[in-house]
Amino acid sequence: MTKTTDPLMKWREEFPILARKTYLINNSLGAMPRKVYEGLKHFADMWNTDGVTAWHYPDGSGWLHDCELTADLIGSVFNAPKGSVMLHLNVATLTAQVLSSIDFRGKRNGIVYDDMQFTSPHYVTQEWARYGAKVKMVKSDDGIGVDVQKLCDAIDETTAIVPISHVYFRSSYLQDVKPIIEKAHKVGAKVLLDAYQSLGTVPIDVKALNVDYLVGGSVKWVCGGPNVCYLYIRPDLIKDYKPVLTGWISHARPFKFEMEFEPAPNAWRASTGTPPVVALYSCRPGYEIIKQVGVDKIREKSQRLTAHLMDKALEAGFKVNSPRDPARRGGTVCIDFPGSEQAEAKLIERGFVIDYRPRGGIRVSPHFYNTTDECDAILAEMKKLANK
Ligand SMILES: Cc1ncc(COP(=O)(O)O)c(C=O)c1O
Repeated sequence: MTKTTDPLMKWREEFPILARKTYLINNSLGAMPRKVYEGLKHFADMWNTDGVTAWHYPDGSGWLHDCELTADLIGSVFNAPKGSVMLHLNVATLTAQVLSSIDFRGKRNGIVYDDMQFTSPHYVTQEWARYGAKVKMVKSDDGIGVDVQKLCDAIDETTAIVPISHVYFRSSYLQDVKPIIEKAHKVGAKVLLDAYQSLGTVPIDVKALNVDYLVGGSVKWVCGGPNVCYLYIRPDLIKDYKPVLTGWISHARPFKFEMEFEPAPNAWRASTGTPPVVALYSCRPGYEIIKQVGVDKIREKSQRLTAHLMDKALEAGFKVNSPRDPARRGGTVCIDFPGSEQAEAKLIERGFVIDYRPRGGIRVSPHFYNTTDECDAILAEMKKLANK
C-alpha cells in the first residue's frame, strides 16, 4: 500500500460506507455523510414534537425557513446571493419550470441545445415543441464533447434559451460555457446551465459566468440525498421571471392563501407546491462538508486521480471515453471494453461501487475521500474481467 500524507484522508471517517466498499460512483450518488442520520432524526423530532406547527413557528423558523436556508447554503457553493436559489424535486421539473417562463408564440421561439444532455432535460426540451418551440439540436462529433463554435453558431436572434450541461454525464466532458453564454447574451438569448455533474468537483461561480439560470441536484458530488434540486435565477432577472408552472409556495405570502397571485419577490416564485422538506435534512451535511473541504482543493485532487486512472487504463489497452485534456475533463473517467456492461454487476458484487452507461462505459469517479490505491484496485479488477 502507498503511504499517504493526504490531508483530505481525515474526511473518510465522516462517510461510513468507505470502510466497507471501494466507493467510486460519486458522479451518480456520493457517499452518505454520517451526519445524515442526525439530520433526518431532527426532522422526525420536529414532526413528532410539534406536529403541524413545525411548518412555520411564530419566530419565523421551521420547515419552510429551513428550505430557504438550505437553498442559500447550496447557492453559497456557487457564489449565488441569498434569495436567488430555490429548491425543487428534480431537474426535469426545473427545466420545465424555466421553459414555462418563456413565451414561444413570438419570433424568438428557438431552443438550442446538444445531444450530450442528460435525458431529463433532453426529453422536456423535445416535448416543448408542442408549445411552439423550434428545437435545434447540435450533435457531438466524437460522442465525448460538443464543439463550442458549433453551439455558438447555432444561437441567433430567434433563440430564446440554450439549455446545456456543464459536464456531460456520459463522457465527463467539461464544456467551455463562457463563450456560449456570451454569444447567447449578444443576441438576446438566455442560458440554462445544468451543473448536476459539476457542482462539488468543479468550481462554479455564477457571477463570474454571468449565467442566467443554473440547475442541478444534491446526489452526486455534493453527497446529499435525492430530491433536493436547485434553480438559481440571476438576481436582475427575478422580477420579470413569470412561469406558468406555479403554486402556493410561489406566492409572496403563501400562508395568506390569497386568490390573487402575487409572485414571491425572490427565486421562490419559481417554486410550485409543497417543497422537498424531508429531503433537505438529508442533503445539508454533504454541502457543509464540501464547503469546508473547498471545491478548489477537490478539483486539484480530482484532476490528479482522474489523470492516474486514465493513464493506467490506456496503458492496459482499455478504451477511454472521457477527455484526455484535464482542463476539459470533469471528475469521471469512462472506461470501456467488450463485456463492460456485464462487468458492472460483477464489480459491484466484489465491493467496487461504479456504474455503466451506454456509449460511455464503466464510470469511475473518485472524490476527495478516495485514494490512488482504490483507483489501482478497480483497474486491477477490470483487467481481470477483461482478460487483460
Ligand atoms: C447532467 C444531469 N442532469 C440531471 C440529472 C438528473 O435529472 P433529474 O433530477 O430529473 O432526475 C442527472 C443525473 O441523474 C445528470 O447527470
